[in-house]
Amino acid sequence: MTLAELESAKERSLAEIAAADAAAVQTLRVKYVGRNGSIPALIKAMKDVPKEERPAFGKAVQAWKAAVEDALAAKGAGQDGAQAKIDADLTMPGRWHSLGVKHPLTKVIEESAAIFARLGFTVADGPELENKFNNFTALNTPVHHPSMDRSDTFWFGDDCLLRTQTSPVQIRTMIANKPPIRVICPGRTYRRDTTDATHSANFHQIEGLYVDTKDKPVSLADLKSVLAYFAREMMGEGVTVRFRPHFFPFTEPSVEVDFSCHVCKGKGCGVCKQSGWIEVAGAGMVDPRVFEFVGYDPSEVSGYAFGFGVERIAMIKYGIPDIRWLYENDLRFLSQLG
Ligand code: DAH
Repeated sequence: MTLAELESAKERSLAEIAAADAAAVQTLRVKYVGRNGSIPALIKAMKDVPKEERPAFGKAVQAWKAAVEDALAAKGAGQDGAQAKIDADLTMPGRWHSLGVKHPLTKVIEESAAIFARLGFTVADGPELENKFNNFTALNTPVHHPSMDRSDTFWFGDDCLLRTQTSPVQIRTMIANKPPIRVICPGRTYRRDTTDATHSANFHQIEGLYVDTKDKPVSLADLKSVLAYFAREMMGEGVTVRFRPHFFPFTEPSVEVDFSCHVCKGKGCGVCKQSGWIEVAGAGMVDPRVFEFVGYDPSEVSGYAFGFGVERIAMIKYGIPDIRWLYENDLRFLSQLG
């Protein structure tokens, strides 16, 4: 078939389809684009067309096919007969589409945001690539603190690093806003850790910060009540919190926060290593030095801050023994937690 012949065959087929009634349209569909129709036959015969003519010829055949399909669709005969039969049979089982599920880390972050939203906290955000001031200096980190070391932090030059904690978002939020401030900041953090069952070089934290003015002084008791509420909502009724004295450069006093074990209810089991308690967060009252770094007068404001590991919460909530399972994207694992 020459190109000119092909053009006139195309014109003829389109005229035929335009003139056809519903039954005739089905016959024409088979004739032109059915499995043994003339257009598939042309496509099969393409290898016999001289090489230099092949591109133009191929293009013309495809254009013909598209035009015929459009014309058939306009006549309501776009589907092939078998498909039309399937669609007409209402007793056929439906087609099954597998639905995705949310990743456990996403679920913990979203659930945390919802819990803290009920207490008036909004979500703040900050970049993963930070400067030294926000990640260390303004958080009152002494110059010789081990976390500043090249071997503990991913540095890019002298002033640029992958944030080692979500705490720099505290700094950004305070610089950009005036108290009262009530935010949580979920996000990705990085440390030069070797990855094993409980550590990963890349993990997630949720930071919390509440700062208010002198007429509404903030206390450690406020912090404890908020974290106790969070513990109950996230882990279940009956879960309590305890504070253990600790040190962070950016809080004074500082505490480590434990949840009572939700599995054994505090009696001692494998999950809590027989202690009845599970460490989940660091927290404390914002250090006056941090307020100075962000330009607040420490005699005018007070506040608390906390930071917990999202992986840690997910692991204890869902009973996941190995942190690496959270990053392997194995659907056999993820779909169980959806
Ligand atoms: N940034 C701390 C860490 O990564 C966690 C933390 C402790 C955050 C105390 C805080 C806090 O906001 O007040 O280990």
